[in-house]
Amino acid sequence: MKILSGIQPSGQLHIGNYFGMMQTMIAHMESDDLYVFIVDLHALTSVRDPARLAIGTLEAAADFLALGLDPDKCTFWVQSDVPEVCELTWVLSTLAPMGLIERCHSYKDKVAKGIVPSHGLFSYPVLMAADILLYQADQVPVGKDQKQHLEVARDLAIKFNNQYGDTFVVPEPAISETMAIVPGLDGQKMSKSYGNTIPIFMEGKELKKRVMAIETDATPVDEPKDPEKCNLYKIMQLFASPARMQEIHGLYVNGGAAYGYLKLELLDLLNDKFGQAREKKQQYLSDPAMLREILAKGAEKARAKAVVTLDLVRSRVGLKY
Ligand code: ADP
Ligand code: TRP
Repeated sequence: MKILSGIQPSGQLHIGNYFGMMQTMIAHMESDDLYVFIVDLHALTSVRDPARLAIGTLEAAADFLALGLDPDKCTFWVQSDVPEVCELTWVLSTLAPMGLIERCHSYKDKVAKGIVPSHGLFSYPVLMAADILLYQADQVPVGKDQKQHLEVARDLAIKFNNQYGDTFVVPEPAISETMAIVPGLDGQKMSKSYGNTIPIFMEGKELKKRVMAIETDATPVDEPKDPEKCNLYKIMQLFASPARMQEIHGLYVNGGAAYGYLKLELLDLLNDKFGQAREKKQQYLSDPAMLREILAKGAEKARAKAVVTLDLVRSRVGLKY
C-alpha cells in the first residue's frame, strides 16, 4: 500500500506531532511503500522569515531521521524540490469549485489566529490535494484537523477522473482517533500555534520548565482526583509503562498523587524516550551537507514518480499538442 503524509517546517516539532503523525509514519516503513515529505511551500503561507524557513526545513528533516526514519526504506524529500507539484496544483485549481474551498475552516481559523489572508493561504487545500494525487497515494495518515483537506483531495480526484477519464487514485484518509488528542500544557490540543507544546527535542532546564508548567488543579495530594480530567495524566499515559500507569491510576482515585513528583517522573521518561534521538539530531545538524544529500536523493526518487503522473495529466487535459 502507498502511504503518504507531510509536515510543515513552521516551528519546533512537538510530542503531539510525534504521537499523531511521525510515529505512525515511521511504523509503516517496513511494510509499506512510504512517502514522507516536508511541506515548505505550505509553510510559506505563514513563515515570512527566509532563514527561519530554510533552517526549519533542515531541522524537520533531522527530526525525522533522528527519530528513526530510514531514507533508504522510504521516499523522503522536501516538497519544493519537486516542482511538478505546482503545475498539478494549477490544473486542479481550474477544476476546484470555489464553494468547496470556501467551506474549508482551516483558512478561517488561521486568519482568526492572525495569519495574513493571502491567495496561497486560501488555496492551501488545492496544493495539498496535488501533493497527494501526484504520487497516487492510497492512504494518508493525518490528525483529525486535516480531515476536511483530505475530503477536498478526494473530491478533486473524483472530479478529474469523471471529467477526463480515470487518472488518479482516490485516496483514503487514515485518521486514528488517538491522533488528534495529545493535550498541550493548558489542556487544549497541543499545537505550535497555541504556544502550549512540549517540543520533542527540547532538553535541560528549558524542558523542565515546560513540564513543570503543565496545568493541574489545586486538589490537595491526599484527596482523590479524576485521572480522565487531568492533563498531566493524559501526557504520562503516552510515556509510562502500563504497569506504572496502573499504579498512578490508583494514586489518582485513592488519593496520594503528588503532581510535582509526577512531573519529575515525566521529565525522566521524556529524557529516556528521546535522549538518544537528541544526540542523533545534533549529528545530522552538524553535517548539513549530508542532510542536503539525503534530501536530494529523496527528491530524485519522488520526482521520478511525479513526472509519470504529470505526463498523464498533461495528455488527459490537452496540454500535449
Ligand atoms: P500544529 O498544530 O502544531 O501546527 P501541524 O498542523 O503542523 O501541527 O500538524 C502536523 C501533523 O501532526 C498533522 O498530521 C497533525 O494532525 C498532527 N498533530 C498536530 N498536533 C497534534 C496533537 N496535539 N495530537 C495529535 N496529533 C497532532
Ligand atoms: N496540511 C498538512 C498539515 O498542516 C500538511 C500537509 C501538506 C500534508 N500536504 C500534505 C499532509 C499531504 C498529508 C498529505 O498538517
